[in-house]
Amino acid sequence: MSSSLSDAELVKAVQDAYGAKALMADSDDRDHTGKVAASFGYTPAELLSIPSEANLGLSCGNPVGAATLKEGETVLDLGSGAGMDVFLAATKVGESGKVVGIDGSLDMIGRARRAACQKKFQPPRVSFVHAQLTEPLPIIDGSVDCVLSNCVVNLLPLQGKRTLFDEVRRVLKAGGRIVLDDIIAKRPLDAVIKDDLASYVGCIAGAIQLEEYQALLRDAGITDAVFVDTKNDLNVYYTSNTSACCSTQGPTSTSSGPTPALSVTPDFDANEWVVQSSPALMSHEELAAFVGGTGDSGDFVAVDGGRVKGSVNWPAQTFYDDLPRILEKYKNKKKVVFYCGSSSGRGPRCAGWYQDYLNETGTTTSQAYILQGGVKAWLAKYAGDDNLVDQVS
Ligand SMILES: C[S@@+](CC[C@H](N)C(=O)[O-])C[C@H]1O[C@@H](n2cnc3c(N)ncnc32)[C@H](O)[C@@H]1O
Repeated sequence: MSSSLSDAELVKAVQDAYGAKALMADSDDRDHTGKVAASFGYTPAELLSIPSEANLGLSCGNPVGAATLKEGETVLDLGSGAGMDVFLAATKVGESGKVVGIDGSLDMIGRARRAACQKKFQPPRVSFVHAQLTEPLPIIDGSVDCVLSNCVVNLLPLQGKRTLFDEVRRVLKAGGRIVLDDIIAKRPLDAVIKDDLASYVGCIAGAIQLEEYQALLRDAGITDAVFVDTKNDLNVYYTSNTSACCSTQGPTSTSSGPTPALSVTPDFDANEWVVQSSPALMSHEELAAFVGGTGDSGDFVAVDGGRVKGSVNWPAQTFYDDLPRILEKYKNKKKVVFYCGSSSGRGPRCAGWYQDYLNETGTTTSQAYILQGGVKAWLAKYAGDDNLVDQVS
């Protein structure tokens, strides 16, 4: 936060709010918590495999889904909450593996331990440790294969983020990996949001921008990080009256007054600040007119290897870093159409980045579009048409 509360007061406010959340009855809001988890990438099978009280609808991703955990590995989950990612990780690393969840709220730790008992998970295979992430972690140097975190780093004050990343580097084994799901601000937050304690506790006001995040990781010696924008809709948190992560209530000041609860829709749209643009869809018919030469002059960019006749291939892996060059090349193309295998994935992600960059640079001569249904739908319609489809040899 930009003013008034000390880092220690912020940490306490966060802890109190999540502690209160940990005391909610399991049955209070199961539909909602299931919906939040599903929208952030948890599969029905994953959700069925964990005790339902382990999911409090507080996630912003599914780090285990991306961590490629292997039998026997040691995993550390930072800000483990009621334990959902710890339980999923424990299943992946098996009986010879070890998963430690750390959380600063004793009530969260208690809830997670009760759920662990239900699953018959015991230390050392699964343990929940009460500790602050803004302080040195009670973990041995070089002992962890994979560090996970789900919607937690944004809740730490800047210095706390720094300390945590240094600690993550310390505890990782050589060649270890880190999967952080987090909320990143797409532009500087307004002071009114930054100074709102409830927005801080609700995962928004403590979000930093990509460049700041990259710099913190670099400073901690964590290099070659890959950032993936999942483009999730944060409004899913507000589909319940009783449960939300990124939500606000109570003081909109920086006073340390009553603890903000996690329950009420904020009076701003979080997506506007922390989720990238969602470009418009382009229909097959319109793209076919471009490609077949009967439409307005336009351009299209392939980020997945072609199949739309005349596509330009720009690798998705370097797309974000290449944005200045891409803009230079396409800024005078009215419509830049992105596609990949489906209507969600690399194509739409790159389209969002391109549109964000157009907005940031004030470029109005070009606009990003996503091919409706992705290339699969395109091929289903035009596969045999050599004028519209690049045939593969
Ligand atoms: C948004 S919740 C996410 C919980 C869990 N990762 C999940 O996805 O369900 C954030 C968690 O981080 C914990 N937390 C926040 N700040 C912390 C800190 N400074 N030290 C330790 N834990 C903290 C909270 O107690 C809470 O359980």
